[in-house]
Amino acid sequence: MPLQVRPADARDAQRAAAIESAAYGPSPISHVLFPGSQTSDEADADAAPSDRPSQLVHDLAQDSTCRWVKVVDTDLEAQGHDGMVAFSMWYVYESPRAEGFKLSSKRGPGSNEEACELFFGAMVRRKHERLGSQPHAYLKLLHTDPAHQRRGAGSMLLRWGAGEADRLGIPSYLEASPEGRPLYQKHGFVEVDMLDVDFSRWGGPASFKAALMLRPAHGGGGATAPASAAS
Ligand SMILES: CC(C)(COP(=O)(O)OP(=O)(O)OC[C@H]1O[C@@H](n2cnc3c(N)ncnc32)[C@H](O)[C@@H]1OP(=O)(O)O)[C@@H](O)C(=O)NCCC(=O)NCCS
Repeated sequence: MPLQVRPADARDAQRAAAIESAAYGPSPISHVLFPGSQTSDEADADAAPSDRPSQLVHDLAQDSTCRWVKVVDTDLEAQGHDGMVAFSMWYVYESPRAEGFKLSSKRGPGSNEEACELFFGAMVRRKHERLGSQPHAYLKLLHTDPAHQRRGAGSMLLRWGAGEADRLGIPSYLEASPEGRPLYQKHGFVEVDMLDVDFSRWGGPASFKAALMLRPAHGGGGATAPASAAS
């Protein structure tokens, strides 16, 4: 069954969200971060939309550096199915930005705002401390349909991002799930820091670790030291 890397767009949001939900289903923090629908009367204009496909589309539309890339199984496609088996969202920050590259830690209605701030907020701050305003490629999302894992799709999407980073001579950065970490190491990412978050107050694990990983700029030293001057 041949796999192909292709650009993705808003029409892929539904399937990307379905794959994400299936891929993260077994994660011990999914139910903590995303306990379900919440009634909220604090609708504000900047709030993310409530359903996940719309949130993804919102992120894509918000920032021209956001790239969606997917892996398609062409045999499935030939049989009339949506052939997407894996999805990635990259931010390719090609030019410096004085204010840095901070994404929101909010995940909108249905999410546990406090837990999201604890986890995603810490990720945003650590990335900013390390990279500041420096150009870099950031892997925000990567997930493969569980029925198609270990076929090389995740590796194909990582090679796409690494290729872009090398073409531009910039480092790449990501926060790794325990499942993703070995894959990232194989692709030249090194652990530069670790987040250890206590979710026990919501019935989750007392210690959930996410490795913060950097792949240095090809041919250069890359950003391995905190970029304090740029923050
Ligand atoms: C991590 C993930 C994207 C890998 O996708 P994939 O398409 O299976 O990747 P590949 O087929 O290229 O796998 C290559 C390597 O990844 C690692 N890997 C893949 N799935 C793994 C798993 N479930 N547990 C541990 N390692 C895994 C292995 O090192 C594997 O190589 P091997 O089969 O030779 O041992 C996929 O497992 C996934 O979607 N997991 C849930 C969501 C997630 O954690 N995403 C990463 C966010 S940081």
